[in-house]
Amino acid sequence: MDIDIERVLISETHIQARVAELGARISHDYAGVDNLLLVGVLKGCMMFIVDLARSIHLPLAVDFIAISSYGQSTESSGVVRLLKDLDTDITGWHVLIVEDIIDSGLTLDYLCSQLERRNPASLRVCALLNKPERRIANIMVDYLGFDIPNEFVVGYGLDFGERYRNLAYIGILKPEVYTHTL
Ligand code: IMP
Ligand code: MG
Repeated sequence: MDIDIERVLISETHIQARVAELGARISHDYAGVDNLLLVGVLKGCMMFIVDLARSIHLPLAVDFIAISSYGQSTESSGVVRLLKDLDTDITGWHVLIVEDIIDSGLTLDYLCSQLERRNPASLRVCALLNKPERRIANIMVDYLGFDIPNEFVVGYGLDFGERYRNLAYIGILKPEVYTHTL
């Protein structure tokens, strides 16, 4: 285990099993659809979208969007900024947003309202992790991996200060790691 990790919250085996289940559900729900577009929210989605896409047995396209996150902090500022837009004109596409984690919900709230205006055929959300205690914005999550407690987690795409994304599991960071750098 990485030296900065206090404990493993969700093991690699658990993540893989759950992602396969989500992929199966999505394949079932979108059966017959030939224009499904997975929209990954960079960079936290990186591991999740790759594994999820491989477990969806339908024709699909993939695109990415980047919006500002916490930077070096562990709290959402509530100010959301579009850093990289989609390459695709999503009009008429069945869009499925793929997000690593929903915390306050402010990021996703902003993103959904932006994408809704572009007239997709449908718009749904798939998130790996959810922190229900922290929700501020009222958003609907259609596909969810795990509810987790209010702890700052890293790994499987999630970072702190751009590190730890490469861990194959979700772990809780030792508090001294982020209290030292703030
Ligand atoms: P929200 O706008 O508060 O819902 O924040 C969502 C974004 O904050 C996520 O897409 C992550 O990039 C980041 N985030 C929230 N909680 C965590 C965490 O525990 N670890 C790493 N990143 C997090
Ligand atoms: Mg994110």
